[in-house]
Amino acid sequence: MNKKKILIVFGTRPEAIKMAPLVKEFQNNINIFETKVCITAQHREMLDQVLSFFEITPDFDLDLMKPGQNLYDLTAAILSNLKPVLEEYKPDFVFVHGDTTTTMATSLATFYSGAKICHVEAGLRTFNMQSPFPEEMNRCVTSIVTNLHFAPTKTSKENLIKENKTENCIIITGNTVIDALLYSVNKVNSPNFEDEEVNMLKHVVDFDKRLILVTGHRRENHGKGFINICEALKELAIKNPNCEIVYPVHLNPNVQKPVYDLLSGVSNIKLISPLSYPAFVWLMEKSFLIITDSGGIQEEAPSLGKPVLVMRNTTERPEAVETGTVLLVGTDKQKIVKEAQTLINNEEAYKKMSHLHNPYGDGTACKKIVNYIKEKETIFVK
Ligand code: UD1
Ligand code: UDP
Repeated sequence: MNKKKILIVFGTRPEAIKMAPLVKEFQNNINIFETKVCITAQHREMLDQVLSFFEITPDFDLDLMKPGQNLYDLTAAILSNLKPVLEEYKPDFVFVHGDTTTTMATSLATFYSGAKICHVEAGLRTFNMQSPFPEEMNRCVTSIVTNLHFAPTKTSKENLIKENKTENCIIITGNTVIDALLYSVNKVNSPNFEDEEVNMLKHVVDFDKRLILVTGHRRENHGKGFINICEALKELAIKNPNCEIVYPVHLNPNVQKPVYDLLSGVSNIKLISPLSYPAFVWLMEKSFLIITDSGGIQEEAPSLGKPVLVMRNTTERPEAVETGTVLLVGTDKQKIVKEAQTLINNEEAYKKMSHLHNPYGDGTACKKIVNYIKEKETIFVK
């Protein structure tokens, strides 16, 4: 029997975290699949951190990241650099993830090549093309050319059905981020877990205080949004000397500049470099509250029972908002301060937002995806 040829393509930190367990799952089925990994390296350092933790060596590294890159050049570079990879390897199936420029451009390139496109984390929508920008457009374009949609939840499947996607081609799997999270939680809690970054955190962070963990990077928040966010964090730090804000700052220069300009020197705000995934998971587990504009963290935090204030006006992940562990606060300074202050001062409000639940999966998403390709693909793929 000829082995099915799989190509898994990703480019940024969150895609790598969410695709790493899928790479492992395909590699566990070496008799059925030939699996290769291609990274666009839309991110560099932040991607390499993930590859190193999950011990993945890419077969193709397009090495495309440029400092301060723009969307036009990045999109064009991904398209043209993928052509020889697709022509040389001739995959049967190309797996893409989520909603980045890598996802969208890889889907287009794969469509041109004639291979089948499998979209992991399919069907998320805010129904607002400008928010998140350009991610909502990226996932809509990807959905148009996708052959198999691996949707994380019932809601994401329904979104695709409303767009007239064929029901047989939509498979609910849960989100692969929970596979990655459970693997990592297990690792960081094992008795012989040793990690340089965790040792650094133990020195830098005052864990006797309540830990507020912050991340942010969304393009639509660049400029005024980030200034508001920084002012809110400064006010929170000054009002609450019993809290410690820890902020691993994304490497995008549009984030680095305002954050370091506005928040350096505040004694209970610790600005640090992006953390590798295990150290970040370790820190999420230790945190009292998470304030973020991240997509992935909205999915991880409910599984850890951590409340999340989301600095966005829209979310494509309504499940945890509906169950009350995630609250949208936008980038209005007063709103961020008010909602964080409520959680700091009001035990009842805190309890309500910090129950543990798993709306995004049970850690078996990758098995479901691989089993589907093994068993059913020939019946359903058009
Ligand atoms: C990208 C994705 C976004 C995703 C986010 C996850 C797009 C358009 N954006 O946003 O959907 O949510 O990643 O973090 O696809 N940089 C480094 N080293 C790194 C990573 C980034 O120096 O390892 C700097 C570079 O100057 C780079 C810049 O950050 O040019 C922007 O990177 P880019 O991938 O274009 O945008 P992000 O804001 O990271
Ligand atoms: N993360 C990490 N180190 C950090 C900050 C975040 O490993 O310093 C992880 C986080 O746990 C989540 C993912 O990175 O799995 C989210 O990435 P990001 O917020 O950059 O992208 P998004 O999810 O918004 O696309």
